[in-house]
Amino acid sequence: MSVKHSFLPQQYDETAKPSINHNYLKEQFADYKKIFKEIEKLVQKCDFTLGRPVEEFEKNIAKLTGAKYVIGVGSGTDALFLSLKALGIGEGDEVITTPYTFHATIGAIVAAGARPVFVDINEDYNINPELIEQAITAKTKAILPVHWSGLCCNMDKIMAIAKKHGLYVVEDACHTINAKYKNKSPGTFGTTGCFSLHPLKNLNAWGDGGFVVTNSKDVHDKLVLLRNHGLINRDECVLHAYNSRLDSIQAIVANHLFKKIEHITNSRIRNARFFDQELAKIPEITVSKRDPAIKQVFHIYVIRAKDRDKLQQYLIQNDIDAKVHYPIPMHLQPAAKAKKWKYKKGDFPVAEAICKSVLSLPVHEFITREQQKYVVKKIKEFYNESKSRD
Ligand SMILES: Cc1ncc(COP(=O)(O)O)c(C=O)c1O
Repeated sequence: MSVKHSFLPQQYDETAKPSINHNYLKEQFADYKKIFKEIEKLVQKCDFTLGRPVEEFEKNIAKLTGAKYVIGVGSGTDALFLSLKALGIGEGDEVITTPYTFHATIGAIVAAGARPVFVDINEDYNINPELIEQAITAKTKAILPVHWSGLCCNMDKIMAIAKKHGLYVVEDACHTINAKYKNKSPGTFGTTGCFSLHPLKNLNAWGDGGFVVTNSKDVHDKLVLLRNHGLINRDECVLHAYNSRLDSIQAIVANHLFKKIEHITNSRIRNARFFDQELAKIPEITVSKRDPAIKQVFHIYVIRAKDRDKLQQYLIQNDIDAKVHYPIPMHLQPAAKAKKWKYKKGDFPVAEAICKSVLSLPVHEFITREQQKYVVKKIKEFYNESKSRD
């Protein structure tokens, strides 16, 4: 196995090439000088560690989500990990989750010392609540649903199961800032909701950052200790813990973008609607059904496509950054095999089929209608050309 120190600079150079791109950071931070001014004020105050911008950010998020408490932490992964630690979940415990997610969800469970137990997903890419109960054992402590692509899971059903079996719910809400499930914010159903400020999230920063939302005072108090060495004051530690604080500079960037969150969200929804309408006309493409009671915020816009790999290559050749999120489900990753959890191909047929056919198209606030029309045209062209080749 060869391990590179960092594959990211090269990866960014490579994927930055298409002009219709998932990466919109240059446009998003074109007004970076305004952020510099705020950072200058911070430098003058030297308010670097859990400074005032972090408090302001936490207040902003409490207002947006309706959560009683918000705790800024180092990343979305840490938000998940620290939530599990705060709930006392660790060695010998099982956490029910989805095999169709980003590695961070599973990494956080394993880092906490627990074992992830996978349950297959629905056609909407989210965990299938009908399959959860049969995965519950005496060791199960929590359900960890992931609200994939900005679509909140069926929280009515998940919360009812959790209540019946006395389980915690830790929501991976990293894709669902400003989303709604029946007028309530994802992240506020469970004991905690975990969010990421990674640069390509809908609300983002200039590096890593994340936060936890909770309505529980006890969990809040535990998280405040866990993120900051267990300190209750400068000199007294009541719990040996971690250093996972939301950085003041990242909080400044996130506060700056927070002012634009409605625009960011509404643009994504509008762009997704256009794709839905146009792509539904193409028989080789499957577009998800949308539930009007759920506000989906399209962190990514995903379709299922016949001949996915060839279509992806065709779109890339035509200057469109079509991506696969993600080709390998979590139970078939080398890391999972190394754990000897005994999962195998065929265990989660819906997730496996989706990994083979899913494709993401850029949907962010800087994509123009003309660019979207071009994407649709190229997808149609691909299938027409395939038909004439057959
Ligand atoms: C579903 C999901 N969960 C967790 C994370 C982890 O967030 P972070 O990168 O901030 O650690 C991500 C990040 O991409 C994610 O997509």
